Amino acid sequence: MSKIQSLTDLIGNTPIVQVKNIDTGHCNLYLKLESMNPGSSIKDRVALKIIEDAEKNGELTEGSTVVEATAGNTGLGLALIALLKGYKAKVVILDKMNLNKIYHLKALGAEVTLARSDVGPDSPEHYVNVAKKICEMTEKSFMANQFSNKSNPIAHEETTGPEIFDQMNGDVDAVVCGVGTGGTISGLGKYFSKVSPKTEMVLADPKGSIVKDVVENNEVKPADYSWLVEGIGEDFIPDTLDIKYIKKAYEVTNKEAFETIRILAQKEGIIGGSSSGTLISAALKYCKDQDTKKNVVTFVCDSGEKYLNTAYNKEWLKEKNLI
Ligand SMILES: Cc1ncc(COP(=O)(O)O)c(C=O)c1O
Repeated sequence: MSKIQSLTDLIGNTPIVQVKNIDTGHCNLYLKLESMNPGSSIKDRVALKIIEDAEKNGELTEGSTVVEATAGNTGLGLALIALLKGYKAKVVILDKMNLNKIYHLKALGAEVTLARSDVGPDSPEHYVNVAKKICEMTEKSFMANQFSNKSNPIAHEETTGPEIFDQMNGDVDAVVCGVGTGGTISGLGKYFSKVSPKTEMVLADPKGSIVKDVVENNEVKPADYSWLVEGIGEDFIPDTLDIKYIKKAYEVTNKEAFETIRILAQKEGIIGGSSSGTLISAALKYCKDQDTKKNVVTFVCDSGEKYLNTAYNKEWLKEKNLI
């Protein structure tokens, strides 16, 4: 590989690998390894697009501070790119997220504020509202606003989608995604509706999240906040989520998700983050529901190294009643 100009050149163009040792029924299941981005998650793509677009339209200038509410990975991507480009970063992260993400954010020089995970979007303590407040109080601040910023789904429409289509030689029957902001599923849904109308967008939703009910019954039930996977599962419908692209939805329990990433590590050698357990478990359910061979793609959205103390730690799993 030749020299790169910046770490940002390493964002995207992630590899796809086929699942070999797990039963995928009639289907071929492929994993796009977003864990191999320099900030070790899919959110690097979104962070880069948001920052570049904000620079283009003059919202980010010398001396600006990037502010964001995040389950961690968007904050990590923003903190990394802010550092490379000379901006400051202030990140509000949910208090149920892994401590390693907080250490990682601080190592990149971000200012970190913890917010409650158990309050709804109307509460002033909700992480998005806390970030808005910090933004108001910070001079030359720019709120990345991944939950309403159009650059978020566009990042996936412009990069993740074309990469998958090329890597799969244009033959993709289904893509399985979780919803945090909905940027991934909506951006990919839009891309595939243009280039490959046969491709079904499939939702993997943690039990307790509201998204599956909205997709299936157009009903917004209150979230129960019981899911332990990080980065996906929602208690509101973000502006960046376009549910019209979602053709099918699967609910995944905590037990199924955490068991699936352990199996992924043991059988395929891939240490995925906790949400990868939800996605791959839903993808396997989808595969087993098919009676003909289909090419199914899902993601290892972030690296499991951040979760070695939780998802891969027997004591933590026992404490949470997951084994
Ligand atoms: C850790 C993590 N963050 C974020 C996402 C996707 O979120 P979004 O809906 O914000 O694109 C995923 C997706 O599957 C994820 O695993």
